Amino acid sequence: MSETSPRLRAELEGIPTYKPGRPAAAAGGPVAYKLSSNENPYPPLPGVMETVMAAAGSFNRYPDLACTALSQELAGRFGVPVSHIATGTGSVGVAQQLVQSTSGPGDEVIYAWRSFEAYPIITRISGATPVQVPLTPGEVHDLDAMARAITDRTRLIFVCNPNNPTGTAVRRAELEAFLDRVPKDILVVIDEAYREFIRDPEVPDGVELYRERPNVCVLRTFSKAYGLAGLRVGFAIAHEPVAAALRKTAVPFGVSQLAQDAAIASLNAEDELLGRVGSLVCERNRVVEALREQGWTVPETQANFVWLRLGERTADFAEACERAGVVVRGYAPDGVRITIGETEANDIFLKAAEGYRSRL
Ligand SMILES: Cc1ncc(COP(=O)(O)O)c(C=O)c1O
Repeated sequence: MSETSPRLRAELEGIPTYKPGRPAAAAGGPVAYKLSSNENPYPPLPGVMETVMAAAGSFNRYPDLACTALSQELAGRFGVPVSHIATGTGSVGVAQQLVQSTSGPGDEVIYAWRSFEAYPIITRISGATPVQVPLTPGEVHDLDAMARAITDRTRLIFVCNPNNPTGTAVRRAELEAFLDRVPKDILVVIDEAYREFIRDPEVPDGVELYRERPNVCVLRTFSKAYGLAGLRVGFAIAHEPVAAALRKTAVPFGVSQLAQDAAIASLNAEDELLGRVGSLVCERNRVVEALREQGWTVPETQANFVWLRLGERTADFAEACERAGVVVRGYAPDGVRITIGETEANDIFLKAAEGYRSRL
């Protein structure tokens, strides 16, 4: 056998593989809740489940490549041309297609840091250069610094609103002022994976910003508010030619028929699903308030998670939570992100946080 291995692209060297949130302990182990992946804790709705079961009866067939019915449904809801909807294998799949469509070696992709951990990975896979702009001390996107980071090599800018993992959101006036400063040949992607959890009326709906601005594209997902994380379906709303580029860069048949049908069924069950989101928002507010009462500094969150900047205590805190029965997400050396889950899980977490604080 030869010692030589196949030649791989140099860009892949040093790219970390995406780290999923740790699962809760296996059945039979200690009680554990998974608060590490920003998932929706509610089980699938019975009606959505039935739809998926029915679709499963045809999984010997390829799905509808164009996601026709889903795209039409989305276009109708948002009042956009159906050609402006581009679906993909989760919104992370669409985000990767956006980078592939705009950026290669020598090009730059700007995003805040810390933000969604897939951004550096998909940027570097494309061979492009990540330009990470630190968040403000208040954990919010520093849009001024991001505008200053633009060069003639910039091809794409991610604005994660609200931001994962801090939960913070940028507001209308500052985002519009930022967009006004971005040259029109640079694509701005407003990643709204957590859009449905926003309660601050000053946080703009990216779709409204997209309508007026051909260089703005919005990313949405069915993984969070709609509870379909395991089925992998997300979408972009983008003007031509960006939407057309997304159709070219899509993995053929990447969105299964189960996912397409479940997404439509979920849109039809929106009242119930958004009611669940409302309950999670109440829980979020309760958790934030309790943490602040315990003495923690908690940034304002508009998502289904909260952020604690714990610095060097990050790993230690995450381990303490796990011993108590909740798996949270540590981003050493910055902080810990805790997903809002079932009331019982949130209570276990709050108790662990209180105990930890008392030992400081
Ligand atoms: C900001 C952000 N964007 C996109 C995604 C990707 O979600 P999905 O690929 O499941 O749609 C996530 C998932 O955690 C996220 O936090």
